[in-house]
This record gives sequence, structure tokens and C-alpha cells, in this order.
Amino acid sequence: MPRTTRPLGIGAITILALASVAITPVATAATTTEHKQPVAVGTGGAVASADFDASKAGIAVLKEGGNAVDAAVAVASTLGVTEPFVAGPGGGGFMVIRLASAHRVVTIDGREMCSARCTPQLFLDPKTGQPLPFENARRSGLSVGVPGMVAQWAKAVHRYGKLSFAQDLAPAIRVAERGFTIDRNFRQQELASLPDLQSFTSSRKLFLTPSGNPLPLGSTLRNPDLAQTYRDLAAHGPSYLYDGQLGAEIAQTVQHPPVAPGYHGFYIRHGLMTTKDLSNYVAKVRTPTHVTYRGLDVYGMAPPSSGGITIGEALNILSAFPLASEARAKALFQYLEASRLAFADRGAYIGDADYVAVPRQGLLDPAYARTRSCLIKDHALPYPALPGNPYPPYGGCGATAGRALSDHEGTNTNHITTVDRAGNVVSYTNTIEQLAGSGMTVPGRGFLLNNEMTDFDFAPPTPTTYDPNLPAPGKRPRSSMSPTIVLKNGQLDFAVGSPGGSTIITTVLQILINHVDFGMSLPQAIAAPRVSQRNTPTSVAEPAFYNSSLRRTLERKYGEMFTEETGAVLPLDKWIGNATGIQNLGNGRLQAAAEPVRLGGGSALVVNPGS
Ligand code: GLY
Repeated sequence: MPRTTRPLGIGAITILALASVAITPVATAATTTEHKQPVAVGTGGAVASADFDASKAGIAVLKEGGNAVDAAVAVASTLGVTEPFVAGPGGGGFMVIRLASAHRVVTIDGREMCSARCTPQLFLDPKTGQPLPFENARRSGLSVGVPGMVAQWAKAVHRYGKLSFAQDLAPAIRVAERGFTIDRNFRQQELASLPDLQSFTSSRKLFLTPSGNPLPLGSTLRNPDLAQTYRDLAAHGPSYLYDGQLGAEIAQTVQHPPVAPGYHGFYIRHGLMTTKDLSNYVAKVRTPTHVTYRGLDVYGMAPPSSGGITIGEALNILSAFPLASEARAKALFQYLEASRLAFADRGAYIGDADYVAVPRQGLLDPAYARTRSCLIKDHALPYPALPGNPYPPYGGCGATAGRALSDHEGTNTNHITTVDRAGNVVSYTNTIEQLAGSGMTVPGRGFLLNNEMTDFDFAPPTPTTYDPNLPAPGKRPRSSMSPTIVLKNGQLDFAVGSPGGSTIITTVLQILINHVDFGMSLPQAIAAPRVSQRNTPTSVAEPAFYNSSLRRTLERKYGEMFTEETGAVLPLDKWIGNATGIQNLGNGRLQAAAEPVRLGGGSALVVNPGS
């Protein structure tokens, strides 16, 4: 939630030991498809997302003969309707795809891109030379990057799907026309973004009552504008956005934000994006990251996301410790410290690898990880942990280079996992960044524009400092999105991912450890209380972890320090992550798993329940 309410760079990690304390019991038996539920078991394909309508869209497409890629696009486009404050065609994301028949894992980078007019000074106040306050930067045209989502959907469907782009958009069009019910989660999100939505005429018109208030709980929100936008994209393809009418409207909105009459907040800055920036956009197919952990092959997203490398490095560090057989407090201490060290490297070295030299090979090398794991002894490392030296021959234990840097990412994203009957898998995280993104709806188009450019660092460069994540023309900001696919002997074991800004990394890492080391089922691993350490003075813990004896043991015995995630503004603040995943149970059976409680819970569905 609003980044202003929590210390920057603080996250949360899940703790398996607490599964029995605070986990809502999850069904493992066969399920029906009549209402939203967090777990479903069956055959023929599976979908897990944050939303029931969206998961149903994925299942509908699978039943029509689509594959996991078609299903993922159907889910994502429907989330643009039902979860408009976190998803939609105005954003971007990262898709990791396992192609069953090719025995290959590929990824598609649909990250938003900075205008050709961007400079490292993008978020500096020209009057003072100092970084803009975050909210002033966010609620502005400057924060909007060229949306990558539609190009990514189209490329995924064109290269790897079985149905047409139009067929995959059809369920979302139906939901946008028919409308959906405003539930508690939607209303909380709307309340939290009220000042943003009220600031722009187009957002007021689409999302608020005529008097500018949030839509009532239980009312129906139809979005005929978005239905028409999707119809236009279905008819004309992605060029309608990147080289056509829709792109012209996006550029116009960014350059001339539709500020509401009577708006009395800070000056809303004009953006730099042009139609040429839009036509220059390419969704890029990239090689996934890969590490081996406890005999499993873990695939993740490479830069510009930091997710795959940071999780991979942390897993390599943790390979030095027998977590499964250790006392839980000791294992969690090692987990927190491995995350701390991996985050130190993330800040120092990871940015858009098309612009900066990311030492990917070193950061993912088990030999490098040994120069980091040797630092984890019996007490928390002092803050901040320094980055290591990931350039061969690496140096000895604790060799350092670079300097510690922090970040400030939003936590409002979503994760989709799909599997089809052929064994193709999609793990797909996407976002418009903060809740309600930049706050700006493209007038008459039914979707919000992202504020992804604020994932760049704001600080001015100096001759003596290096920062891999400063804005530049055409550059993509560093992300934490961590869509992950885990294979065992070449077959799907499980896939998982989560929203949560930089806590995504610790959430996914903790789920991996919960499941692989601590023996939790995937639903239990997703439900377990989280705690996140991101090279910050304290680790952030969900209340169920914070109020546990385990937290006290970690403080007393290992010198760890914690801050409770209290939900300072709204209850949705107190959660860390909202994960989804799918487990291969063998013999064609799949277990779809969504979040049971956080943010109202998600929706897991299978094509043939219970068989
Ligand atoms: N905007 C959140 C992320 O990219 O990780």
C-alpha cells in the first residue's frame, strides 16, 4: 500500500514453523467451481489468480482448447477489468513460460519503458536539484512508462498460444460489459487510492460516484470503455496501441494529465512520452535465470527484474545449510541473513541489463555464494550488509565491492499461474505499480496508466557513485517481480509468484523454503505467516509471525530485529504478498493454490475438479 506509510525497502518473509498457528485450513479435496476458493485439485489444466472472474476466464479458455499461455492472457486481461487498481493494459509484467513439448523455459519481458527523452534527472525538482517527494513523482505524467502489457500478451499468444488474441480477450470483454460486484477488497483499494482517483476527471468518471465518492459495496461496476478498448485491440492487434489511435490517446494523457477542476494538491507534472516511444516498444524474449536447489531446477525472471537473480543467489547461499534438519529458529535466521546479503547485491548490481553490466553469472554462481554464506554465523549481520564481489575470482569470504543502496517499490501487483493438460506452464506477475498507478485513466478507454518509472532510483548521480537503476532514454526500471517455475527431473514440480514490490522476492523465497525444506504443501507454504528482510535495520513481520515465540527466539538468540506490519492506514496494509501457485501432484493431477485470506483471498480452479 501507500509507500509513504512504511519504511522504504522493508519487506516480509513467510515462516513455515507457524503454519499451524495462523493458517486458515485449506481444502485439499476435490472442489466445485461455484464460488471462490483458495485450493482446487483435479485434471485437465489449472488456474490460480487473485480473482474469481479472472480465474474463470482462464478455465473457459482452457476448455475452448487454449493452452496455458492463452489462459494466462485471458486471466490478465480480465484482471484489468476486475482488479483495475493493480492490473490492466496500462501496465507491464514478466511472464515465465515452460514449453512442455520443447522442454524449454522462456520468458517475456513486458516491462514498461522510459521515454527517449528520459534522463537520470527525471525525478529531480528542476528548481532545487533534489529528488521530488514520491507522491509528486508518482501522481504525474513523468511516472508513466510505455505500457508493455499488450505487446507482451500479443507476443506470448502469437509465439506460444493456440488460440487467437481475440479469443483470449473475449472473456474479459464479457466481464467488462456485464460488470462485476464491488467487494470489500475492491472498496478498500478504492478508498486507499481516493486522492489519486479524485485528482483526474477521467478516473473520477470511471471509478467514483458523480459526487466523487467511492462506489458502494455490493454495487456493480461495468466498464464499457474497456470492453471497447479490448474489442479494438482484438480487431486491429497490438499496433492499435503501439502505432495507432490508442497510443495517440495515451501519449496525449501523459503529456497533458486530465487534472480535475478544483484540484488543490501539488502541481501535477506533464510527462515526456511520445507516440514514437510507443512505436519503439518491444516485448523482449529473454533467457530465464536458473539455479539448482536441493536437486530442483528453479527458473526465474532475469533483468530488468531483480527477482530471478536475487532469489537464485539467496537459494545458493542457503544451499550451505541443512534447513530441513535444523531447529526452525536457526533455519529462519539463515533465511533472513541470506536474503539480507542477496538484497545488498541486488541494490548494488542489478538494473536493466540492456543498459548496465549486470554480473549475472557471478551472482548466480554457487562459488560466489560461498563467499556470502560464510558470513552467516550465529548473529545478525550489521546494517547495512555490504555487497560482495561477484566478479571472478570473487575474493575470500566477505570480499566486498560497491555500496549499499535501497529502493522504494509499490506493493500492489498480481500473480497468475496457469497449467494446461499438455504440461505447459505460465508463471506471470504484472502490475501498474502503486495502487491505482499514476492515478490517470486514459479518457474514455477504461484503464489506468502505470507509475512504473518511479521504480527507478531518484537520487542524482554523482561522479563518485554508481547506481544501476537510474532513468535513461528507453531504459526499463528494475523490478522485483519473481514469477518462478520449479522442475523436478525435467517435469513441472510447482510454479509460484506473488505481488508485493520488493517483498515479492522474500515472499517467493519463503514459499520455496517452506515447501522444499520445511515440507509444507504448496497451499500451506502460501498461507504461512511472512517475514521479510531486505538489507534493512529490521525485518518486517506479519502480525502472526511478530506475535510468535519464534520471533522472540530470533531476537534473543540471533540478534535479529523486527517491525510489525500493522496495517497503519487500512487492513490491506498488514499483509505481505498475495501469492498463487500450482503444484503437480503426478498422474495428471494438479493442485491450484491461491491466497486463502490476505486481501480477501484468491481463486484456484481446475478444468476437471476432483478427478
Ligand atoms: N513495481 C513493482 C515491481 O516491479 O516489482
